[in-house]
Parts: sequence; C-alpha cells; structure tokens
Amino acid sequence: MSSERRSQLGIDVGGTSIKGAVVDLRTGELAGAIHSELTPSAATPDDVAAAIGRIASAVEWRGPVGVALPGVINGLTLRHAPNLAAEWATEGALTDLRAPTGANAVTINDADAAGLAELTYGNTGLESHGLTIVLTFGTGIGSALLHNGELIANSELGGLVGPEGCFEELASGRAISAERLTPCDWARRAQPFFDEIEVILNPARWVVGGGLSESFDSFASKLKLSKPISVAHLGVHAGIVGAAVFAAHEHRMRMPELVR
Ligand code: BGC
Repeated sequence: MSSERRSQLGIDVGGTSIKGAVVDLRTGELAGAIHSELTPSAATPDDVAAAIGRIASAVEWRGPVGVALPGVINGLTLRHAPNLAAEWATEGALTDLRAPTGANAVTINDADAAGLAELTYGNTGLESHGLTIVLTFGTGIGSALLHNGELIANSELGGLVGPEGCFEELASGRAISAERLTPCDWARRAQPFFDEIEVILNPARWVVGGGLSESFDSFASKLKLSKPISVAHLGVHAGIVGAAVFAAHEHRMRMPELVR
C-alpha cells in the first residue's frame, strides 16, 4: 500500500442510484452509513458531480474521491455508458467531476471496481488461479477480468450479442425486474452468454456481483457451468469499496492510457 490513508470515500454511480460511503481500507468494510440518491434519468456529468458533492459533504469528506462509473473510461471521456447522458462521451467530460469537492475524482469502471474489491478483500485464491471473470448484473451487465491478481480493465462483455440480441438487454438485473424473469427464464437467456465467454476466454472461475448477488443461489444454480461460480464477497457494496481502493492505492493494472 503506497498510501497512509486508513479510510477513503468511494462512490458507485449506477443507472438507478448513486451511492457512496467511507470505506475502511484495512478491512474493506464500510466505515459509515451509505448515502444514496436516485440517478436522474439521462444523468449528465454536472448531475453526477452535484451528487458527489452532496455525498462528500454528508460524510464531511475532504480529498480525492473514488468514483465508479457505468462505462468505459478512456482518457477524460466515458464511453459505452447507455444509462447516462450522451455528453459523457465528449472530450473532457470527466474533468467536470472535480468541481464539487475541489479535489480529484479518481474514476474507474464500476465492474472493474467490483473486481478490484474482490481481489483486495474478497474471495481468496484470485491472485493465483488464472483468469477469473467477475460479472455484475444490475441496470446493465458489467465485467471485470482478473488474471493472476491483476485487473485487466475496461472489458465490456455485457455487450456481447447472442442469437436473441445483446445479452445486457436480455439478462441484466433490470431485465429480470422489468420482465419479472424467474431464475429459469433468466438462465435460459444467460446460459449462452456464459457459454460464449467460456469459449472465447476460458476462465478458471466466475464471480457474480451487482444486484443479482442478493439472489445468487436461486439464479446461479440454474446455470450449467464447467467451472466454479461464487457470489461477490462484497455483494452490492463492491463498487463503492473498489472505487475507494482504486483512489487510495496504487495497483498493478494493465490499463495504461485508459485510466483517470
Ligand atoms: C456499461 C458497462 C458497465 C455496465 C454495468 C454497461 O452498460 O457499458 O461499462 O460496467 O453497464 O454498469
């Protein structure tokens, strides 16, 4: 750990809510209450910056803030963020996040944040077992690739397309709620997604996070997989925790020009 910091504010910007909490960096546990707001529809960088400011002042936080975002971080733009406003993709959009705290907002993809949290505090063995794929099922489907203890950032496996369409639209947490999918309905849609990834990337294990982590047993038990699958240890808080870890620590990550 390169920092002396013992705690760090992490904020997870989702398509449905923006949640933040101070994280105890020694344990990965939340050191205070979660502050949560509904994400405005087609939220702009200004909307999110204002929410970050409100959350930071609610917890009396000064200093850099770790922010997990639902899209690909590419320089100072955010791409592939269908649940936010289109202007996130304009050059410099991420600089607008700095204003509210007067400090740096250190940004990371939300699923990568969840993967980083798992790597740091979660399931044991992730640092030495080849490729682990973390999939987060919430408003969208996020993915994090963890290879022998390194995060390979900005994968977008939820964007894969199967015979019936884009898996993110068919099998996300939002699809489950909106279409009242039973675990069997969901598994029929999600099975080809897992199969496709298995063929392409040959992972050694799977970890499931996001909203689906709360009903993991009933849903995951309907899948037929050749490799072990487990629930994200940090559950729905993994994005907050990973954003905090990313802001506070230096990590070995293969994400050269795509970060910050
Ligand atoms: C975005 C991903 C994100 C996922 C989960 C997708 O729509 O493209 O970057 O990780 O949603 O929020």
